[in-house]
Amino acid sequence: MIVSAKEMLTKAKAGKYAVGQFNINNLEWTKAILLTAQEESSPVILGVSEGAGKYMCGYSTIVGMVEGMIKNLNITVPVALHLDHGSYEGAKACIEAGFSSIMFDGSHYPIEENVEKTKELVALTNKLGLSIEAEVGSIGGEEDGVIGAGEVADPKECKMIADLGVTMLAAGIGNIHGKYPENWAGLSFDTLAAIQELTGEMPLVLHGGTGIPEDMILKAISLGVSKINVNTECQLAFAAATRTYIEAGKDLEGKGFDPRKLLAPGFEAIKATVKEKMTLFGSVGKA
Ligand code: 13P
Repeated sequence: MIVSAKEMLTKAKAGKYAVGQFNINNLEWTKAILLTAQEESSPVILGVSEGAGKYMCGYSTIVGMVEGMIKNLNITVPVALHLDHGSYEGAKACIEAGFSSIMFDGSHYPIEENVEKTKELVALTNKLGLSIEAEVGSIGGEEDGVIGAGEVADPKECKMIADLGVTMLAAGIGNIHGKYPENWAGLSFDTLAAIQELTGEMPLVLHGGTGIPEDMILKAISLGVSKINVNTECQLAFAAATRTYIEAGKDLEGKGFDPRKLLAPGFEAIKATVKEKMTLFGSVGKA
């Protein structure tokens, strides 16, 4: 059964570790992440961007696939199915389709409008027992056409949104989606500490998990980050493993063209990446 992310993140915050959100793109992705979570006895959050939602034929298809896999693969660890960077309309559509968690990204609205829309969705998710993530200060980089400037959030605005009753809060602290540029200034830990000081128990979310050095990840966890989003790194691992397979001419040997063979190295590469992240984040054995 898919569950709200509230309990797993409350435990993570108290236990000073983080739960990974891994974005999914298709069946192989979803299966690789779920099997790894089960093998590592780790809670897990499956992230779905609106673009990935469209690619996978819509939210109901995804709910059906994830629920089916949990049943058929005997997955017993807590799994949250979460909309990543949702619009107001996207959030409502995912709630309708049976997602257990949503992110409403109102960071591009003026703060008053972000507050109003977040409030309405908090009331709706609370009523249904779902978790909700809000965002203050847009995350830099580009993800599915949503381009953020990499702002550093205002801690007072974070407190304002946290007080609306959201489950977890994403705050920009200089993090960006995708690969980090050579001249990246790093995470602003002073901002993170100030946000944590004002928001207390609220689990904080770090987006753009790909390419952040391990010491920064661990420091962010020590300052209250309990959910870390990873997307690009699984894509890079999948692409590299698939390239190696093709370049070695394996698709031309015997039945090497069979998608079950062709996609297997990429599948294993996603598993290895997810395992490495769960180990780094400290969620192994915490299911
Ligand atoms: P990366 O693609 O940089 O890992 O970021 C993922 C993310 O933050 C999804 O919301």
